[in-house]
Formats: sequence, structure tokens, C-alpha cells
Amino acid sequence: MDTARIGVVGTGWWATEAHIPGLVEHPQAEVPALCDLDAERATRAAEHYGVDAVYDDLDRMLARESLDGLVVASSNASHYELARRAIDAGLHLLIEKPMTETALEGRVLLAAAERAGTEIVVGHTFHYTRLARRARELITDGAIGGIELVHSLFASSAIQQVRHPDALEGVWSFPVHGPTPQNFSAYGQGQNQLTHSAALAAFVIDDGPESVHAFMDNADVSVDAVDALSVRFTGGALGTLASVGTKPGDDTPHNELRIFGSDGWMEIDMERATLLTLHRYDGDGEQMREEDVSLHYPLRAPAQNLADVVLGRAPNLSPGSIAQWSVEIVDAAYRSAASGALVTIADLYGDA
Ligand SMILES: NC(=O)c1ccc[n+]([C@@H]2O[C@H](COP(=O)([O-])OP(=O)(O)OC[C@H]3O[C@@H](n4cnc5c(N)ncnc54)[C@H](O)[C@@H]3O)[C@@H](O)[C@H]2O)c1
Repeated sequence: MDTARIGVVGTGWWATEAHIPGLVEHPQAEVPALCDLDAERATRAAEHYGVDAVYDDLDRMLARESLDGLVVASSNASHYELARRAIDAGLHLLIEKPMTETALEGRVLLAAAERAGTEIVVGHTFHYTRLARRARELITDGAIGGIELVHSLFASSAIQQVRHPDALEGVWSFPVHGPTPQNFSAYGQGQNQLTHSAALAAFVIDDGPESVHAFMDNADVSVDAVDALSVRFTGGALGTLASVGTKPGDDTPHNELRIFGSDGWMEIDMERATLLTLHRYDGDGEQMREEDVSLHYPLRAPAQNLADVVLGRAPNLSPGSIAQWSVEIVDAAYRSAASGALVTIADLYGDA
């Protein structure tokens, strides 16, 4: 195959900021069609990026267009249904985070994709940084021995958008559409942000959760703004994952991950210093700083990875199987915070 033909469903902020431009600049990708429930939003995106066809219904787009892949960048609640239909049509997918809202939905999608022989790439952009990939490689190579403790902090300003829905107007500029203010009050810090740091932790240690106990606080808004989780991973490591969304918008986020093992520890400061440091107890170590600012958050990389996967040029660098661990952590955290009890991952699947 010389050209990957990739459609996009959901043409709001993130599709027009990250994925459509990522595909348009890929030398072997084409975007034949866009789809959004709101046809006007799809039309504006199509005009901006020179896309020929616009739809307001995914089934019609799948029936009329000959596609190899699909980007699902619609609102969180629709990811599962739209992805199911695209897998049934035999397409490779990039699904935005969170891959699904529940662990059960995620499991069903992964099974369907396996049966169909299609790949699910998930928009966990941090996985495409050199720091995350090197950290994962070091852990796999045993650089810090057996993992004992995973400690993660994600602190951002997402909740400021709930307090002040028009806060970004005139402050940030967007190629086509800016964020939809209602999204911030529909989803809390867990779905919006913890999903990123939980996925990063799982990606680096290559392990998923066995059980989660969580506390969540809403601060002064209607959704969770402060999340504190204790996690036991299936490989035996314990973890504390914390996230808060109440920082001012002009204060750089924290996305920090520290992993302690039997032979040493490592830390990644993903946002402020963009630095990975390995400290081994035998005195060895290494440091890696990402000097290239454009690679701090390589937002076009997931869509370009989808195109490369379709073309057979690259492996899936952010697979659904790892995203599923993040979905499990977030799903279990909401249930635990609501009930006050520890939630095992087996609980999420019931008898399924
Ligand atoms: N990876 C990141 O850093 C990052 C950043 C921002 C958003 N996101 C994710 O991207 C996704 C989209 O977020 P956004 O901020 O662009 O939202 P948005 O509201 O700007 O855009 C979503 C679009 O999806 C459309 N839509 C909803 N249901 C649909 C359906 N059934 N069929 C067709 N279109 C449908 C809406 O009309 C809307 O235009 C979310 O899952 C979000 O979590 C990821």
C-alpha cells in the first residue's frame, strides 16, 4: 500500500489541532472525508484542511468512502460506539483518550479488534516522547531491578475551565475550533487528566492494575478536581497516583513520575524540566533532557503513527492494551471514590 486513506470522526478542537494536520503533513496519508454530528463544524475543518467530503453520520461515511483507518476524536462517551462500527468495517483506529469510559467497553473493543485483525492506537501523546520510551526501555532492561513503588503527580489547570468556561477566549489561538467549554464540566480531572498520567505510568512499567482505592474531592466545582489513588499493580508494585486540576492557567503543569526498584530509581519530569534521570544503587546512572520544545508534547505523532501502522511502516507505539490499563485505573477510581471501598479490577468486569 502506498497511501493510507484515513477518515476522521469528531472534528472539534483536538482533531483540528492535532490529528488532521498530522495526517495532512504525512507524506503517505490522505484524508478523504470528515464526519461530525455537527456538519457545520466538519465543513469548517474540511475547508481549512482541503478535505473533499463531509458527513454527519459515521455509518454513511463508512458506506461511501473507501478508508483504511479512522481517527475517533469525538466526545468521550461516543468513543466506544463509533470505534465498534469502524472495527466492524475492518479499519485500523486511532481513538482519543480515554479509549473508553468503562473497562468493560475497552475489553470488548480490544477483543473485536483482535478478531478483525485491526490495530487500536490510542492518543496518549506522552508515549511518543523520547523520555517515556527511554524510561520504558530502561525498566524492561532491568535498570532499576524489580519495581516496588510507582509515584505519579499530574497537576494542571483543567478545572479553571470549569470555573471560567470562556477563560481561553483570546488567550490561546486555534486553527479551526477551540475546546468545547461544556466538556470541562462534563468530565472531571480523572477522565480528562489522570487518564494521561495513569497511562504513562502503566506504559513505562509495562504493567496494569490489580486493585485501586481512591479519594476524590470536587473543590468548588461539579466534577472531581482533586484525585488521590492507591494502586496495586499485577506485578506486585504499589503505586500512588495523584492529580489536581486547580492550578492557574499560566502555571506550567506538573507531570512527574518516580519509580523505585530493588536496584535503583528513576524520575521523569515530563512538563517542567523535561528530564529523565536514572539513579542506580551501584552508582551508575544517566540523564536525558528533551531540548527540542516541539517534541515535549508531540501532538501530531499519534495520527502519524496510525498512518504508519496502516502502511506497515511502524509498530503501534501506543496500543489499546496499554490504554486499557489506564481505563481500568480511572474506572476503578471513580467507583472506589463513590463507594469508599477498594475496587479490584475483576470487579469491573463482573461475570463478563
Ligand atoms: N490527547 C490530548 O492531549 C487531548 C487533548 C484534547 C482532547 N482530547 C480528547 O479528544 C476528544 C475530543 O475532544 P475535543 O476537545 O476535541 O472535543 P470537542 O467537543 O471540541 O470535539 C468533539 C466533536 O465530536 C463531535 N461528536 C460527538 N459525538 C459524535 C458522534 N457520535 N458522531 C460524530 N461526531 C460526534 C462533536 O460534535 C464535536 O464537534 C476527547 O475524547 C478528548 O478527551 C485529547
